[in-house]
Amino acid sequence: MSLKQHEMYLFRRMTESDIPHVLLNERGAYSHPWSAQHFKDALSPPNEAWVLECDGRVVGHAVISRILDEGQILNLCVASGRQGEGLGRELLSRVMYQMGLNGVQCIFLEVRVSNSVARTLYESVGFEAVGVRKDYYPAADGREDAVVMQYQVSGRAS
Ligand SMILES: CC(C)(COP(=O)(O)OP(=O)(O)OC[C@H]1O[C@@H](n2cnc3c(N)ncnc32)[C@H](O)[C@@H]1OP(=O)(O)O)[C@@H](O)C(=O)NCCC(=O)NCCS
Repeated sequence: MSLKQHEMYLFRRMTESDIPHVLLNERGAYSHPWSAQHFKDALSPPNEAWVLECDGRVVGHAVISRILDEGQILNLCVASGRQGEGLGRELLSRVMYQMGLNGVQCIFLEVRVSNSVARTLYESVGFEAVGVRKDYYPAADGREDAVVMQYQVSGRAS
């Protein structure tokens, strides 16, 4: 899916004033959304929070953490009304590029076993499943496992 040609996109750092809008997108997209406090914490090192704006509206957000050459994607989210348009792939590629610029060599993330859309997206850019965290996430009917995925930056053509 390619982005709409007539729209203007801006990838920038999240600020505190973005949080109310980010929370709306977050709550519309996740069964167990992050709180405002999670996003406040995401604004300080070792975390970094980013948003993707489309025609001046925040349509996606991502939170990463970085320690030396290891990075983690903690949150990647596209507003529910804008999913399936290529924005998630765009956001992910910008986040990964940003991490690469900062010297990250290895990126990890966790994703719900049932989240086939996200897992397919991550696999399509080169993430590989390297483990499972049992009962990692809360779920409607108890707990759900997380798949741990890893991406090795080194040795890849950019
Ligand atoms: C996961 C998420 C970020 C993907 O963003 P998106 O904008 O919907 O995805 P894109 O349109 O960029 O599509 C990227 C890929 O995802 C997969 N995908 C997207 N929609 C899909 C669908 N309905 N069914 C199956 N696969 C789908 C495809 O592989 C697609 O690549 P392709 O279009 O080149 O075939 C988004 O759906 C989301 O925010 N979900 C809720 C929050 C979440 O689960 N975040 C991930 C936490 S680890």
